[in-house]
Amino acid sequence: MRKLILIFSVFILISCNNTDINKKQITVSEEKTLNKVSLSPFERGRIIYKRCRACHSLDIKGKNKVGPNLWNIYGATAGNKSNFNYSKAMSKSGVIWDDETLNAYIQKPNEFMEGTRMSFVGIRKQEDRTALLIYLKEMTTADIE
Ligand code: HEC
Repeated sequence: MRKLILIFSVFILISCNNTDINKKQITVSEEKTLNKVSLSPFERGRIIYKRCRACHSLDIKGKNKVGPNLWNIYGATAGNKSNFNYSKAMSKSGVIWDDETLNAYIQKPNEFMEGTRMSFVGIRKQEDRTALLIYLKEMTTADIE
């Protein structure tokens, strides 16, 4: 059955246009890696972060992309980087970023913060969100780097 599904997905991939093929192939190989039980949460988080990477850098001198650089995000007030043009929803939210608020935001950005400019569908699985946040915290916080 699994094989059949795989063959079917490959067929669908082939019938899509180029950009779609690239997107879906990344997801398929990502899924395969994510299914390895031996992955540590940090490793899993590093893979999940690929879904954010196009829009966010994490390092201390990282540039803003489509989204703001996320260095020092833990404990920060939402929308506080002076060199980034946030939505009103974000800059006026008063949200403090911690495990709980970040978890809710990356699950369904628009549900947690109506009107946010971050166009991202969200991460469905709690396990993936938890892993991503472990990675995010470690990569963006000075004392645990
Ligand atoms: C398509 C681009 C895009 C993707 C993908 C994306 N983001 Fe964002 N993100 C944005 C934008 C744009 C904003 C600013 C939103 C606003 O002003 O409402 C933002 C804002 C944020 C903020 C608030 C930053 C602050 O300074 O308060 C966090 C935290 C965040 N994103 C985390 C993530 C994480 C984690 C992921 C991956 C799971 C992700 N984003 C994926 C574009 C993106």
